[in-house]
Amino acid sequence: MIKQGKSYSKDGHIAFIVGKEFTTIEGVSTIVEEQAKKFIASDEKTDYIKLGEQFIFFVKENDDLEKIRVAGHEIRTKLSKSAEEIFISGKGTNALALAEGLALSNYQFLKYFKDADKKRYHLKSIVLLDTFEAKQISRLNNTTTAVYWSRDMVNEPLSYLTAPQLAKEIQSFEKVDNLKVTVFNKAKIEELKMGGLLAVNLGSVDEPTFTIVEYKPKNPKNKKPIILVGKGVVYDTGGMSLKPTAGSMDIMKSDMGGAACMAGTIYAAAMNELDLHIIALIPATDNRPGGNAYVPGDVITMYDGTTVEVLNTDAEGRMILADALAYSNALNPELVIDAATLTGAAVAAIGQKAACIMGNANQEIIDELVKSGYNVHERLAQMPFWDDYAEEVKSSIADLKNIGGKYAGSITAGKFLEHFVKSPYIHLDIAGPAFLGSEENYKGKGGTGTGVRLLNNFLENY
Ligand code: BES
Ligand code: ZN
Ligand code: ZN
Repeated sequence: MIKQGKSYSKDGHIAFIVGKEFTTIEGVSTIVEEQAKKFIASDEKTDYIKLGEQFIFFVKENDDLEKIRVAGHEIRTKLSKSAEEIFISGKGTNALALAEGLALSNYQFLKYFKDADKKRYHLKSIVLLDTFEAKQISRLNNTTTAVYWSRDMVNEPLSYLTAPQLAKEIQSFEKVDNLKVTVFNKAKIEELKMGGLLAVNLGSVDEPTFTIVEYKPKNPKNKKPIILVGKGVVYDTGGMSLKPTAGSMDIMKSDMGGAACMAGTIYAAAMNELDLHIIALIPATDNRPGGNAYVPGDVITMYDGTTVEVLNTDAEGRMILADALAYSNALNPELVIDAATLTGAAVAAIGQKAACIMGNANQEIIDELVKSGYNVHERLAQMPFWDDYAEEVKSSIADLKNIGGKYAGSITAGKFLEHFVKSPYIHLDIAGPAFLGSEENYKGKGGTGTGVRLLNNFLENY
């Protein structure tokens, strides 16, 4: 937890953010001051010394906050597991970014280790010595809590996180003020005729869920809600069109990364008490070739009556998202944003360093979101969204088919989804950044919680 502190307790671990000169603080020895001077004269971006059990870190001031967040991760890799408290001596946004990078790096997913206690970090307090508004610190803590939640969800395997379990996890948000969670079970989903979600669920023994999270503060700035939709495929085998590439199924517990992102986003927004009316919609199921699984050739009638010819059961994300997007229409939204680990094509196009953004919302709004991407270093690359691409998802026997042609797979998927939304719409394909196979600084290894910091930055400035 990041806290405000007034004074440094000597012997405590500490990180100094230094500019051209070193400003010493009470309780610091001359050895530290000497080292700081050497550090300033050097080309190094970070440095540290150890005095007995005590760690002293030095980080060079930087206008690029991402460099500072990454330095926060470096501190975590050096600091002992047993350290419970660290002070940060430095000013303004640099100090906040260092605290953020360190807090995000302190995340661990140890649930399934027998000797978890041996591996555990004990860091509990990151104490800022400069003065901040209480709100700046609480927002950082809340958003970090939501990112942790999101990462936990993505890291949980299907053996724990079924669709009903995901709904249950989201229900725990109800402890936050002005936030309400409603879960539709299978009977309700059948009654509503959400054909896409039900079709994908046909091969499963676990029931699907459709979770609605509404955050409505007393006096929201927006009259019409902002709707966030997240793909909640708790496991994607590909279904009858079983995933063809060796190893490609290994990370498919992360196919609910969009759900984790959007649920995490509204959780953070509510804890941060943003003045916005927001609703998150989370359709969830696993995708398997079981019992009565849907098959290529099937024609499915979706929630809004659109018929879809299924030509690949592995294109299941768009089937469940389409129903949720169509459900948003009755809520009269001002803006609809979805996040989904939707296509391998998005990863092929831009890799794991960014998510794809596309949509028909006005360009200023898209630009705002792209700007937030730079602010928090969850960058977005905009794809074209011309109507020509929609031609590729037209079917010869139904209104649409669920796959496009050989090229531009992330865009044809986006065009398929656009068909179901009546309001200004933005689609985020997070297939690349949602889950990392190897550690990447404070983003970690495994579930990254991508999108939560991005969308919170966007909503804060909205
Ligand atoms: N969940 C996958 C997309 C994915 C791929 C996410 C890699 C994360 C990493 C999605 O459901 C899928 O299988 N998409 C297919 C669509 C195709 C059949 C049109 C794909 O991208 O191959
Ligand atoms: Zn799939
Ligand atoms: Zn999928």
